[in-house]
Amino acid sequence: MAVKASKGSTILDVARKANIGIRSVCGGKGLCGKCKVLVKGGVEHRLADKSIISDEEIGKGYVLACLAKVVGDVEVFIPSESQFGKAKLLSYVNLPKIEVEPILNRITISDYFDIVKLSSFYRVDDDLIRKAEDFVERRGKAIAFVDPFHNAVVDVKESGVYYGVAVDVGTTKIVVALLNTQSGEVIDVESEFNKQMMYGEDIVSRISYATNDEKLKELQKAVVDVVNALVNDLCRKHGVDKKSIYHVSVAGNTAMTYLFVGANPHVLIQSFKQPVKISPKPYILRASDIGLDVNRNALVYVLPCSGRFLGGDVVGDIITAGLHLMDEPALLIDIGTNAEVVIGCRNWFLGTTAPAGPAFEGWGLRCGVRAVQGAIESVEIDSNTLKARYRVIGNVKPIGICGSGYIDLVAQLFINGVIDAQGKFYRDIESPYIRRGPDGYEYVVASAEESGTGRDIVITEKDIYNVIDSKSSVCAAISILMKRMHLDVHKIKHVFICGAFGRYLNIDSAIAIGMIPEFPNAEISFIGNGSLGGAILTTLSKSYVQAAENVAKNTASIELMLDPNFMEEYEAGFILPGKQELFPIWW
Ligand code: FES
Repeated sequence: MAVKASKGSTILDVARKANIGIRSVCGGKGLCGKCKVLVKGGVEHRLADKSIISDEEIGKGYVLACLAKVVGDVEVFIPSESQFGKAKLLSYVNLPKIEVEPILNRITISDYFDIVKLSSFYRVDDDLIRKAEDFVERRGKAIAFVDPFHNAVVDVKESGVYYGVAVDVGTTKIVVALLNTQSGEVIDVESEFNKQMMYGEDIVSRISYATNDEKLKELQKAVVDVVNALVNDLCRKHGVDKKSIYHVSVAGNTAMTYLFVGANPHVLIQSFKQPVKISPKPYILRASDIGLDVNRNALVYVLPCSGRFLGGDVVGDIITAGLHLMDEPALLIDIGTNAEVVIGCRNWFLGTTAPAGPAFEGWGLRCGVRAVQGAIESVEIDSNTLKARYRVIGNVKPIGICGSGYIDLVAQLFINGVIDAQGKFYRDIESPYIRRGPDGYEYVVASAEESGTGRDIVITEKDIYNVIDSKSSVCAAISILMKRMHLDVHKIKHVFICGAFGRYLNIDSAIAIGMIPEFPNAEISFIGNGSLGGAILTTLSKSYVQAAENVAKNTASIELMLDPNFMEEYEAGFILPGKQELFPIWW
């Protein structure tokens, strides 16, 4: 494909404008090395750290897309590991059984008197009045669908059903479900990468990018465009008229929520030394306010957030898991770019967020990739030969290792006595799979011949340290919440694992490396995408709208970094698997 570029702009900028996905974990600062591309022709490359791009790579024609300025015609080849990749569809959600009570009210209009009443009680556009008059004249009846939040008529129809759309706006992926609001059926689900990733894969990079209204709008548009494209695909596939979508419910973390509604998100990255007050109210908009391509008057309900790091996605998790209906405290963990952890039941919830993501999203790890086609997602090590057996997403040659693969790998290396309790390789093991590499000791998971990149896929001692670092903060978050509520591992009877990543997590491996404590008396349930679950439930049920708002109000959040016990708990995780009180069976 050919695109025009203005002289002096970087390859990454050109790709962003042309909607071409190049990974940009650090937001284009030249720090992550994930935007490597192969070029032939006119570019000028700014100097970069040799650990990010080596002289050998530069000699072969590789540049960092964010540091390479276009100065003439240039051919760019984007290697698979630098592309967004093909998203693994992570749309599974274990929904509770509910009674469908559509949010919009249906008002039957039988004569002109009803039309007059309608326009005196509700805001109603002139064209809808005309539509109602026409239906009454020709058919003797019409139905008006009223948005109770805006007290406005969304549309007037001859009869029946309106459709709803539930959206999970994740930092990495956007998932959209098309719903029949009458029967409660989830007609279909589609997902796509969040195009905001072109502005940085982490939240802070994106917030830092939104320095003015124009840039904030750019970020908002990046999400809305993906939602519109997914809605369009779903409607085409199922023969649904987009204009008959009257309700869109959206859930996302607090930063994604702010960026979706176009609110200034900078407050979220202000001093981490002070807690930030977040309103636990939902955002209520109309589709035309933000350019959603459904009925222009459609109600857009954005699930409320309850803290700087506890967004509508967590509220969605809670109502999907049914924590708000439980009598005994349960634990909920949503592992994504960050790990959100909540303890609670009925009318109280205590939650926090641990910065788990970078390693589990493959950031900062030598062969780390997200859960895309070609990622090694699970690993077992043969205890005799120490050779790895692995499973690859999409059954293709592996291009790297994703989060669940890393957790398995560290667990398997530990259980098989290849690494010690501090994550260091035992130096006296003789094996063709363990060797000294440029970053110290490493274990070869897949050789260059087996891999799809032509390079060995390895896990280094440094990678293991990063995984231990991430898992320690997740475990510290759980431990701190339990301590605050005077609960120990024996008292928790139910653990809910949510989130796309959680769905593919091997719980035994997560416990073996000390990411999740042992809960000897607990039943473990996988909820799947609870954020999407929350958006679906609040599209189909008035009671769940109320539940979401109560949960947001009744959730207290702890900022982990401000907790005086955090460092102690976190450091305890650096001896695998972790503290005896959290791993009673292991010890
Ligand atoms: Fe280019 Fe990170 S190094 S986006």
